[in-house]
Amino acid sequence: MTDGALPRAALTSPSVARNKAPILEVLRRVLPRDATVLEIASGTGEHVVYFAAELPQLRWIASDPDEVNRESISSWRAALGSPNVAPPIALDVRAQRWPLAAPVDAIVCINMIHIAEWAATRALFAGAAEVLAGSGPVVLYGPFKVGGAHTAPSNEQFDRWLRERDPASGVRDLDEVAREARAQGFELTETVSMPANNLCVVFDRAAAPHTTDRAGLAGADRPGRARRGS
Ligand SMILES: C[S@@+](CC[C@H](N)C(=O)[O-])C[C@H]1O[C@@H](n2cnc3c(N)ncnc32)[C@H](O)[C@@H]1O
Repeated sequence: MTDGALPRAALTSPSVARNKAPILEVLRRVLPRDATVLEIASGTGEHVVYFAAELPQLRWIASDPDEVNRESISSWRAALGSPNVAPPIALDVRAQRWPLAAPVDAIVCINMIHIAEWAATRALFAGAAEVLAGSGPVVLYGPFKVGGAHTAPSNEQFDRWLRERDPASGVRDLDEVAREARAQGFELTETVSMPANNLCVVFDRAAAPHTTDRAGLAGADRPGRARRGS
């Protein structure tokens, strides 16, 4: 990257600049100290390269189903020389089998579940239950309804805009998300208010991890339960 120019194919999202630092503060606290972290729906890739630089002890796997986004992630990764970010993988959470070579210790998913259809939320936790080696966490960020109600007029407007654009999308109710998570063995353990009426929500799995291997994970080493960072 020279002269302040963006690396080739790199996309930018103005919201990333605003939310990356508050999200980082949550991740710093809740991610295991030594972990491989899968980011779902990495989008431009700006979050993952930032988190990876700030939390250099962690190994990051970026992903997105969209090829243009994966090119952007690769471009940011190359420009910043992020040594702890793996090449992005093509991951749609609805896929029967997630294309991972080994289990991961934590999952981060920012601004995806309100964009995608509800089935994607269900698939996110079903997939997480399969690919997490230990208790997680699964960390989500975005706008949520709480107790069935919007938390701000701006979220209500955003929800209306989303549904006009795609009726299958929309701001999700945290209780319904938590119910879906519980069906897969995850409990909502933390809800953190974030700027612009967003929430960072943390899910952990209390029960022992599944013993059945997801395809692509067969024979892979399953790391033990990782410790939380300080
Ligand atoms: C609003 S963007 C958020 C991107 C990035 N996380 C951010 O906050 O800037 C929504 C992202 O969700 C991804 N996405 C949509 N449906 C998905 C699915 N079924 N599985 C995985 N990712 C999905 C899109 O490709 C896109 O990158």
